[in-house]
Amino acid sequence: MLSTLIYRSRLSVEVALDVLEQVVARAKVNNEKINVTGILLFDGEHFFQVLEGSVESVNAVYDRISKDTRHYNLVELLRDYAPSRRFGNAGMELFDLRCYDKASVLQAVLAKGTSQYALTYDDRVLKFIRTFVAGNNKEAFINTGSSSRWDLIQQPAVAPQKSRFMQKDQACQFALQPIVDVANREIISFEALIRSAEGGSPATYFASLSKDQLYQADVESKRTAFALAKHIGLVNQTLSVNLLPMSLVMNKGAVDFLLEEIKFHGLVPEQVVVEVTEDEVISRFDEFEIAINQLRSAGIGLAIDDFGAGFAGLSLLAQFQPEKIKIDRNIICDVHKSGPKQAIVQAMIKCCSLLEISVIAEGVEKIEEWLWLEAAGIRYFQGFLFARPQLNGLPAVNWPEKKKRA
Ligand SMILES: Cc1cc2nc3c(=O)[nH]c(=O)nc-3n(C[C@H](O)[C@H](O)[C@H](O)COP(=O)(O)O)c2cc1C
Repeated sequence: MLSTLIYRSRLSVEVALDVLEQVVARAKVNNEKINVTGILLFDGEHFFQVLEGSVESVNAVYDRISKDTRHYNLVELLRDYAPSRRFGNAGMELFDLRCYDKASVLQAVLAKGTSQYALTYDDRVLKFIRTFVAGNNKEAFINTGSSSRWDLIQQPAVAPQKSRFMQKDQACQFALQPIVDVANREIISFEALIRSAEGGSPATYFASLSKDQLYQADVESKRTAFALAKHIGLVNQTLSVNLLPMSLVMNKGAVDFLLEEIKFHGLVPEQVVVEVTEDEVISRFDEFEIAINQLRSAGIGLAIDDFGAGFAGLSLLAQFQPEKIKIDRNIICDVHKSGPKQAIVQAMIKCCSLLEISVIAEGVEKIEEWLWLEAAGIRYFQGFLFARPQLNGLPAVNWPEKKKRA
């Protein structure tokens, strides 16, 4: 099958422009051998390349191109299949947009095309080309610089680990993972993640419960989370706890129970954020709405967890606006390399800014992901890059720090 891949990237500062002619001459020879064709546009700062050929050949070329240090911030914009090549003539041709005047540049690029059929106005490849040639949407081109300019500096847990935390007859344990504001080097919240009585995974814990026990156990487990918060002396941060919305619906006294336990453990309701996932909410929204209103009137905060993972997403946000949304880890993973993910995150940031909802990126594992997200305007992060969950205590936190130039 004939596949098409489009990406854009940024020229590395230290590369002289005359090197590009050599790159393209070499590319032409390489591409012709494996029947890859396409076009390479350059606007003086950014590249935009269309690669066409079999999936294997295009992937092999893109893999090599991705490792080339003469450019950086590669963002894959499109992967698709086509009945015929749009640029079937050249193994690769460099097209310097600066050599043409604005009025004729698009026609000059399209004149390189070989397909009469594909270059129609509805063709996404053509639309991408037109937008790049016109220099539109450049505000979405985020320059993160190189990740090699950053180190991670480990800061030990802020509070000394006190005596071992374990209560009598504890049915479960909790691990704490920080949510961080990197720009201000602050931990803003700890998420309490449930573990089995022996410290095993959440799946092991939930497998030990019958369906009838689930909702009650879910509410009651928060007592242990609040006790752990008291044990570590939580004062300046919030505590985020996960709750199945149905637990609030099925246990009529759930909110009162939570409020009593919050008070008993020396916390205040405003310090607690209840995280719910969108799928669970949307299935019984009317009942859930009654329960959230109770939580809100008690002062407890609300966050939608795993936002974007389920089928509800924007329709849920239209019905109900929490204080926070946590963007699902699958959208965060490799966001620095993916045009579709970047478009989605940028739209979420814009939408949440208009609604005054804080955005948290969860599942951040790579420094490149954090660099892109921070540059896009996200302030709060959670993920292994910063800290792993720590059972019954506070983990050390890794803070990104710019390397000092030698
Ligand atoms: C913007 C840009 C576009 C490139 N396009 C291609 C290409 O289409 N095909 C290719 O083989 N190499 C391309 N290269 C070069 C590759 O990154 C890599 O240096 C080259 O494939 C190595 O080939 P060699 O082993 O034959 O020297 C490109 C490099 C840059 C910076």
